Amino acid sequence: MTTITQDTFLMCAPEHFEVAYIINPWMEGNVAHGDRLTAQGQWQELVHALRSVARVDCMPSAAGVPDMVFTANGGLVLDDKVILSAFKHVERQAEEAHFAAWFAARGLQVLRMPAGLPFEGAGDALLDRGSELLWLGHGHRSDIGCAAVIADMLEIEVQPLKLADPRFYHLDTCFCPLQGGYLLYYPSAFDAAAQERIAARVPAHKRYAVTQQDALSFACNAVNSGKHVFLNQASPALCAQLERWGYTVQQIALTEFMKAGGAAKCLTLKMNEPRTLHSGSGH
Ligand code: ARG
Repeated sequence: MTTITQDTFLMCAPEHFEVAYIINPWMEGNVAHGDRLTAQGQWQELVHALRSVARVDCMPSAAGVPDMVFTANGGLVLDDKVILSAFKHVERQAEEAHFAAWFAARGLQVLRMPAGLPFEGAGDALLDRGSELLWLGHGHRSDIGCAAVIADMLEIEVQPLKLADPRFYHLDTCFCPLQGGYLLYYPSAFDAAAQERIAARVPAHKRYAVTQQDALSFACNAVNSGKHVFLNQASPALCAQLERWGYTVQQIALTEFMKAGGAAKCLTLKMNEPRTLHSGSGH
C-alpha cells in the first residue's frame, strides 16, 4: 500500500556527474568510464519513485563538483539547524559553499565544524529511528572528534562507530536506521567495539545483519520514507525481512552511481528531521 509521507528529500541532478578522481575504492578503474545518460535515467527513476510517497527538492548542479549529486554529504540536519560538511578530500571541498547557500536560503541555521575536523554530514551521521540518538561513522572520512562537537551543538547523544573496511567508507554505506527503530547493517564493516555498541542499543529483533552480497549491492544505502524503502538491489531474503517488518521495497538500479561509491541514500538528504520524532521508543 502506498502512503504519502511528510518527508522532503534534497537531491541534485547529475548533469555534471562523472567519476573524475579516486577518493574511495569503488571509483578505482571507473575514472571516465561512466555513462551520463544512463546515470540521468537512473536518477530520474529514483526521483519518480520517491515522489510517489514524498517531496523531492532539487538544488542546482554545478560544473567542477561531480560528486555533488550525493547530497547526503551536504550536512547534518536536525530541526532548523544544519551542521555543514567539511569534506576530507579537497576534490569535494568546493561543494561546501553550494550546500551552505542552499541551506541558508531555506532558512536553516548553518553551523560549522571547528577547523581541522573533517565531517561528511548525513553520509556519516545518522539519526537512530527508535531513540533520540545520533550514530557517527568515523575512521575514513569524518573525524572521531566530531562526536563531542555535534553532541554539544545539537544537544543530542552521539554514539561513535568505527568503520573498518575501506569499501564501506561512509556510515550510510553499511548502516540504515529505519522508521520504528529498526536497523539494517553489515556487521563486518565495523570494528568489534562498534558492533557491541550497536547490539547494546538496538534490540536483536529490530536489527538485521545483511549478507556481504547485499552489502556490496548497496542494500544498506536505502532511502526510508514512512513504510517505504528504496534501494539499488536486495536479495529475496532481505526483501522478505523488510516485508515482515511492514515495509514495501522498491529496487531501482543505480549502477552508474555505484561507480562513484554511492547509491540511493547517498543521492538524498532528508530535510525534515524534527527532534520530537526521534524521542520515545519508536512504534
Ligand atoms: N564519490 C563520493 C565520495 O567518495 C561518493 C559519496 C557517496 N555518499 C555517501 N553518502 N555515501 O565522496
